[in-house]
Amino acid sequence: MSFKPKNITYQVSPIGLHGGKGHSELKENPLKVDTNLIKTINEKTVELNTTKLGINKDVTLSFDTKGITPEPYLGALGHVVILDDMGEKFVHVHPTSEEQRGIFMNLDGVSKHLLICNGKICTKNGAEEVTETIRGELKSLELQKEIHTTKTLCNGQCKHGPIAVLYPQGTWYKEMNKAKSEELIRQLKEERNVNLGSELYYHDGKTFKNHESEL
Ligand code: FES
Repeated sequence: MSFKPKNITYQVSPIGLHGGKGHSELKENPLKVDTNLIKTINEKTVELNTTKLGINKDVTLSFDTKGITPEPYLGALGHVVILDDMGEKFVHVHPTSEEQRGIFMNLDGVSKHLLICNGKICTKNGAEEVTETIRGELKSLELQKEIHTTKTLCNGQCKHGPIAVLYPQGTWYKEMNKAKSEELIRQLKEERNVNLGSELYYHDGKTFKNHESEL
């Protein structure tokens, strides 16, 4: 079996498995093709699309994460395991670095980007609940494809955390909690200028400015 992703540096590690008889000889439990290419785990859905599969043909695997940014597992953002039809050999590949993720967000139709600080202090002050609430509300209001969310490391405003930043508006919101998170998404759904009463910075088109409540 040969596998080499185009233009991307992957670690490719073929592994032979020999556990007694070859799988093809184990009639009682033959491998079955799983034709369901949409999987939902922990309320996160991923859909796999492929170009036509064929021997010695280039194949593109596309993973639609439905607006959710994947989180690293065992140090890599994506893992692909390909098994041969005898069930005896597989290759396991993953990107060798974050820059070479090989997973690209499809931002078609996305109008806003919400950065949610999940740095140490914000997490201590409830950022996880904020993140879950925002993502849960986006899902229940079917806004996941319009508003993209990303968890970030520290944004340098720990004493005001948990912090959320909305783009392209460039507004920073401080002291986020569950209620403010629900309100934020509700106002975005209504396409209003979000006003939570806890704005920290706004962008005047040129630079960030302190919100009046911070002056
Ligand atoms: S940890 Fe969120 S601003 Fe520092």
